[in-house]
Amino acid sequence: MAGTTLLDIKGVQTYYGNIRALNGVDVTVKQGEIVALIGANGAGKSTLMMTIFGAPRARAGTITFAGTDITQLPTHEIARMRIAQSPEGRRIFPRMTVMENLQMGASLDNLKHYDEDVEKVFTLFPRLKERIAQRGGTLSGGEQQMLSIARALMARPKLLLLDEPSLGLAPLIVKQIFDAIRELNRTQGLTVFLVEQNAFGALKLATRGYVMVNGNVTMSGTGKELLANPEVRAAYLEGGHH
Ligand SMILES: Nc1ncnc2c1ncn2[C@@H]1O[C@H](COP(=O)(O)OP(=O)(O)OP(=O)(O)O)[C@@H](O)[C@H]1O
Ligand SMILES: [Mg+2]
Repeated sequence: MAGTTLLDIKGVQTYYGNIRALNGVDVTVKQGEIVALIGANGAGKSTLMMTIFGAPRARAGTITFAGTDITQLPTHEIARMRIAQSPEGRRIFPRMTVMENLQMGASLDNLKHYDEDVEKVFTLFPRLKERIAQRGGTLSGGEQQMLSIARALMARPKLLLLDEPSLGLAPLIVKQIFDAIRELNRTQGLTVFLVEQNAFGALKLATRGYVMVNGNVTMSGTGKELLANPEVRAAYLEGGHH
């Protein structure tokens, strides 16, 4: 259903030892949205993504997914609720082939429509099909990113978490990846929560966005509003595309 809250993060605090990395974060992602989280290095963006999966664990606050409190659930149970992620740095299996990496992404429940799902990700990323038997570690950075997203999609997620999908990639590949995300959202209604340093690209893609500074959400709005916001422009878009 459009407009229903799928992910509800309320007052989340996350620590590394005694150091607080998230100071009480509120973020919501509704069914069918693409929500972007932008912010400088060290703001806590990846920490929030990882906290959704319970590693590290939130020390305060609640995370609710599809009406279920997942704050204290073990990570594998969170994944079983059909939240999938492409983490920062991609973390594909370097010694496994493209196909084997995709197999790792499919849960047991999904094996019955495995062939169909593989075809879908190959339609989305034809490059991966050409490299089906190549080892993950020998793929280019852009191809590894595609594989990381494709592997996450094999879980048939209700919510896809992407941490810096454009990091280190050439503009043409970034465009292909952002186009693929837009396509998944438009045609399959996939809900996406993405973290990006590429604020311009992310806010153009996103329905709504949040700005994080030092473990706090300082601003939120539609992608358009944030793109037009003078503070956002000065801090994150200056020198970029306009
Ligand atoms: N495992 C860890 N142990 C201790 N501190 C950590 C750990 N991981 C992250 N931090 C600290 O937590 C803060 C937030 O880091 P985080 O990786 O969430 O930032 P980020 O917004 O994702 O940054 P970037 O854009 O550089 O990826 C930083 O100060 C970082 O040094
Ligand atoms: Mg990060």
